Amino acid sequence: MTVLSGEEIQKTRLSARLAARVLEHVSGFIKPGIKTLEIDQICHDFMLSNNAIPATLNYRGYPKSTCTSVNSIICHGVPDETVLVDGDIVNVDATCILDGFYGDTSRTFLVGDVDPEIRRLVDVAQTAMFKGIEAITPYGTVEDIGFAVNKYVTRQGFYVVKEIGGHGIGKSFHEEPFVPSFGKKNKGSKLTPFHCITVEPMVNMTDAKIAESPISGSDHKIYKTSDGTPSAQFEHTVMVTDTGYEILTML
Ligand code: MF3
Ligand code: CO
Ligand code: CO
Repeated sequence: MTVLSGEEIQKTRLSARLAARVLEHVSGFIKPGIKTLEIDQICHDFMLSNNAIPATLNYRGYPKSTCTSVNSIICHGVPDETVLVDGDIVNVDATCILDGFYGDTSRTFLVGDVDPEIRRLVDVAQTAMFKGIEAITPYGTVEDIGFAVNKYVTRQGFYVVKEIGGHGIGKSFHEEPFVPSFGKKNKGSKLTPFHCITVEPMVNMTDAKIAESPISGSDHKIYKTSDGTPSAQFEHTVMVTDTGYEILTML
């Protein structure tokens, strides 16, 4: 966990803001007919032209500059020749390293005309992320976040992914603490001012177990729903402050 000085806070703000701009930039290109590899290339070029390094590229063997997770892929989808078609959903997850500091954000995009129940899944994932963020208080806990996320998602009739979640972030990509999408109020690691975490719930339509497949050359895995139902996710990098929180990956 990196506690940030004033100068480091400013650097993290800039990196996170750039990650948000990557998603804003690529959003205009996400239409039926685009390949996930093209989405990755657009993000890659945008990061490089803004003096940033794509954090995922060669990260523990991961081969690309973003993750692009289509439909039943929960996270860590690897950009490839997959062509998006009308009705798909795709999560694009972009992480920048700018001047040594990390900013990590993702959004699930609708491709053309998406089924209303799948649109609802996407909306619930986004609102769940904000419910989690709103539960952040200085000296509160990571499970306060998980509790808020899970309560909301369960009431909407959907299911959180428990195996994967958010993380501390700062001068490195993945730090302590793990930020779960479920939990008990007042339990788990404490949230202390002036360090950053990600809040990135993954929301499924069923409670089918999750399936893993290897990414060749990497110790990361692709996660998907074992029953083929869609999964949605949103992610922000958030700084815990002495009065509450600041969402750093929001434009
Ligand atoms: N950006 C992802 C996260 O939210 C991590 C991707 S790591 C990778 O934490 F190696 F799979 F790309
Ligand atoms: Co993350
Ligand atoms: Co991410």
